Amino acid sequence: MCGIVGFIGGEQAAPVLLDGLRRLEYRGYDSAGLAVFGEQQGLQLVKAKGRLAVLSDLVDGGAKLEGTVGVGHTRWATHGEPSDANSHPHLSNSGRIAVVHNGIIENYMEIKEYLQSQGVVFHSDTDTEVVAQLLDYYYQGDLVEATFKVLHRIEGSYALGILCSDHPGQLIAARKDSPLVLGYGEGCNFLASDVTALIKYTKTVSYMEDGELAILTRDGIQVYDALLQPVEKERSTVDWDIADAEKGGYEHFMFKEIMEQPEAVRKAIAPHIQNGQVVLDGLGLDADFLQSLSRLYIVACGSSYHVGVVGKYQLEQLLRKPVEVVLASEFRYSNPLVDENSLVIVISQSGETLDTMAALREARRLGAKTLAIVNVVGSSIAKEADYVLYTWAGPEIAVATTKAYSTQLAVLMLFGIWTARLLGRLTPEREAELLGEMLRIPDKIAEILRHTEEIQYYASLYFNHESIFFMGRNLDYAMGLEGSLKLKEISYIHSEAYAAGELKHGTISLIEDGTLVVALASYAPLFDKDVSNVVEVKSRGARVLGLTTRSRAEEMAKHADSLIVIPDTDLMFLPSLAIVPLQLFAYYVALMRGCDIDKPRNLAKSVTVE
Ligand code: AGP
Repeated sequence: MCGIVGFIGGEQAAPVLLDGLRRLEYRGYDSAGLAVFGEQQGLQLVKAKGRLAVLSDLVDGGAKLEGTVGVGHTRWATHGEPSDANSHPHLSNSGRIAVVHNGIIENYMEIKEYLQSQGVVFHSDTDTEVVAQLLDYYYQGDLVEATFKVLHRIEGSYALGILCSDHPGQLIAARKDSPLVLGYGEGCNFLASDVTALIKYTKTVSYMEDGELAILTRDGIQVYDALLQPVEKERSTVDWDIADAEKGGYEHFMFKEIMEQPEAVRKAIAPHIQNGQVVLDGLGLDADFLQSLSRLYIVACGSSYHVGVVGKYQLEQLLRKPVEVVLASEFRYSNPLVDENSLVIVISQSGETLDTMAALREARRLGAKTLAIVNVVGSSIAKEADYVLYTWAGPEIAVATTKAYSTQLAVLMLFGIWTARLLGRLTPEREAELLGEMLRIPDKIAEILRHTEEIQYYASLYFNHESIFFMGRNLDYAMGLEGSLKLKEISYIHSEAYAAGELKHGTISLIEDGTLVVALASYAPLFDKDVSNVVEVKSRGARVLGLTTRSRAEEMAKHADSLIVIPDTDLMFLPSLAIVPLQLFAYYVALMRGCDIDKPRNLAKSVTVE
């Protein structure tokens, strides 16, 4: 996905736009650009391949661009390789209209060919440029009218920011399927892909809906629906500060967000635990509906999917109902056996992942009720689901998720306990026991975080490995999936997570002298089998980094070459603790390999394309 930002006000626009782009760079960072209109210089366009710093240097931090209205863009390339020409903003051939875009114009080739047949020359390989040229094609002096025509011609997803040199007193914003936030200032107004870009200037925001078009002037913002009828937008106040979206002295956002996990988990669970019971007021799901459920689905991508794999083990124990975990990108094309007796839980940190959004829509089309577990308030998935539970982790900037993952685990567990009680499957005593331990989890995470140097040492032993295996059983296997992904996405080391019992069915042939195997053995009921698996791989030359609980450390130390020990806890909460050292291991390995930890190559924070 890409990041877009727009400003219209009294002060110079370029520095404000650059500051906003800096906070959006986690959304995509292979090129960036600005378009600013000034009374002396007219419409000025500067864009370049490379990180935002390249653009900022080109415009001397914004000083070289004169004007108090403009748009900016930071790109994660979809159509057209990263290059100066493919960077946004795209300029219409008349030179009067600049466009920034997040999303995909699916019918861009058809439009491009038509315009080329009309003699329009294109200058890039992008889908977005057709918006700029089509605006030119329709423009007869009324920018809103031209925009309205374009929006009814293009298909696909878009968050658009449009600046026209004939109308320097306004910016146009339009949204369909890609998030777009409006910010209300004093004598100035903003548009942005997400709140982080504008919270330094205003906390008063509204979230555009699909099909809406907005006109931003220095005095206010007017929003129109798809029929160009005025819409009164509800304004909300952002409940976190700019400091939450800054590094706060840490070297990387990822490390900061790892360290924020005790507080993030505490914030996620505390409001929902009252008098020894889970309280999910306002959720809207009732016991009769839950009783009628024949099956639950958990559908997500990446780390959020891994939360679902953990959740399957937990919810099936709690509810004694089948829980199916499916990758969103598979679910949407698998003709799933979903019906009105299904509850489909979609999990998404960003609330904008296209595959997950598509799966949500497919589930609703098939008659299922949908529950979204989401971090970003007001995000598309949160808006479209029948029910929503927020994780309240605050802004997560690092591409590799950590605190959002941990709070998703916590919220899913809260839902499981709450549902189990409604279904009569959980005694008040067991519920109180679980919740008592759940409230101790933040402190146990904090305890692990007081020993990061031990994990750093292990990373120093193993950061040069080119292939690393994670193995475990039951919840440990589920943890291995996430530990492996964390390592892959930021250190670029190939890694695989395996159900330990499955290793002997083929993959053990890859184990040879020195192969590193991370053996997760925290799930007590299968500990002896875990030990057997450790012996099995060691007999083939493997180096074993073990992970177990304090009560089994002495036994595991006899077999593993290195050992990570986590506090003991209820089986249900093992993943909430075991994931923390795995996050730290990935972080330190990537650090020692000199990788760009917060912005790993080829990735973006949320994938809003197929
Ligand atoms: C996790 O570290 C990755 N950045 C990625 O797998 C992510 O979890 C996935 O893209 C889903 O994102 P979402 O939670 O915002 O839907």
